[in-house]
This record gives sequence, C-alpha cells and structure tokens, in this order.
Amino acid sequence: MTPDAAERLIIALDLPDVPQAEELVARLGAAGRFYKIGYQLMPVGGIELARRLMEAGGKVFLDFKFHDIGATVERGVKSVRRLGGDFLTVHAEPDVLKGAVAGRGDDPRLKIIAVTVLTSLDQAALERAGITTKLEDLVLKRAEFAAEAGADGVVASAKEAEAIRARFADRLLIVTPGVRPAGAGADDQKRAATPAAAMRAGADYLVVGRPIVQAPDPAAAARSVIEEIRAARPS
Ligand code: C5P
Repeated sequence: MTPDAAERLIIALDLPDVPQAEELVARLGAAGRFYKIGYQLMPVGGIELARRLMEAGGKVFLDFKFHDIGATVERGVKSVRRLGGDFLTVHAEPDVLKGAVAGRGDDPRLKIIAVTVLTSLDQAALERAGITTKLEDLVLKRAEFAAEAGADGVVASAKEAEAIRARFADRLLIVTPGVRPAGAGADDQKRAATPAAAMRAGADYLVVGRPIVQAPDPAAAARSVIEEIRAARPS
C-alpha cells in the first residue's frame, strides 16, 4: 500500500532518554506516524519504547546500522525480527547485506535498509578515511550491493537519490536524511536538501531529527514538512 504523506516522514527520536522521547511523541500527536530509534535511546529503554510505539499502531525505524561478519548480522536480524519493526539499517557491504537478508527471511514487515555513505560525509572526509572513489560512484556501488543482495532499500542523501532512482527504478526504497526545511541550519549535515527537493529527487521517505525535535513547536514543524511532502508527491 502506498504510504500517505505523514507516513513518509520519519522523525528521528534523537533524545537522551525515554521520558523525553515519549513527551515529544505526545506533543507530535497525529503528525508523528513513523519514528526512528537509534544509538542514543537503544541502551536506555529504546527497544521497549519501539515495542510500545508499534503496539499503539506506529511504525518504527530501528537505526542500528549493523556492521559485523555475516553470520553475526544474520543472528542479530533474526532477533530484531522477533522484536518487530518496519525498517532496520545495516551497512552496505555484501556479506553484511547477505546476512541481514537471510536473517529477515520472509518477514512481510521488516525492511532491510542499507546505509550507503553517511550524509555527514563529503568527498574530503572520504579521502581522509582513505577512500578515493567519487562519492556519487560509491553511493551507487553500495546501492548495487544492496539490490544484488535482495535488500529492500537504501539510505542516501537527496543529492544521490536521483541517480539511484534512475538506476534502480522502484527496486529500492530511498530513505533520505539530511533534510533541512528552508531557513534551518545544516548542523553537521554536508549534503542537505529541503523536504520538497528531496522528494522531487526521488526519496520515498525523509528522516528528520533536529529541525523537528528542537523546534519550539515540533508538531507544527512536522506538519509543515508533511505539507511539503504532499505537495511534492501527491500520492
Ligand atoms: O537531526 P538530523 O535531521 O540531522 O537527524 C538525521 C538523523 O538521520 C540522525 O538520527 C542520523 O543518525 C540519521 N542518519 C543520517 N545519515 C545517514 C543515516 C542516518 O543523518 N546516512
């Protein structure tokens, strides 16, 4: 089923503890349909929070970015499968992806989303890490790994979404972080785009953290992103 605009907005619950995350969820109300839980909450009750959000009918993105030998990733994903969830991130390396897809098995809900190149990195940062491949080529190469392994989608910045969409059509879901509404600061995001530009570039889902979490009125901030999504992609 095609998700509606509100379901295409994934709000990153990047907060220090569960009570603050729950307070934000309550303030967001109907504007919050899909939540991302990552490292910050995971060790301090984030897993139980994910369970509660799902019990309340919400969708959950577990941003665990698994990266280990294939067999260990497979076992980890099998455990995530028991927990439940909608999206799970793993790094876009062939063995990691193979393990993750095996661990997911035929679960109809859990989608394996491959992290291509973090949106906080640019070409200079890649070079410092000893990677000389052009950033855009690296993203496409890693997207190729994801498609070949049978993963469901990729995380990629708006800047690369267009090329991924052109190469893989609807074969891969594109989940785009580094989204900054016009006028908002970029923080540490190096390849940022507005929600409308990210959707036009081909994103299926947007991940937004600080511009909503730190807004004086998070629900209003979320609603304005949802409006931009709807305008850019009516269905
Ligand atoms: O606050 P901001 O909108 O920058 O948050 C973006 C979220 O998306 C963060 O939780 C970050 O970890 C996550 N993310 C990202 N780039 C990736 C994968 C995940 O920014 N490639």
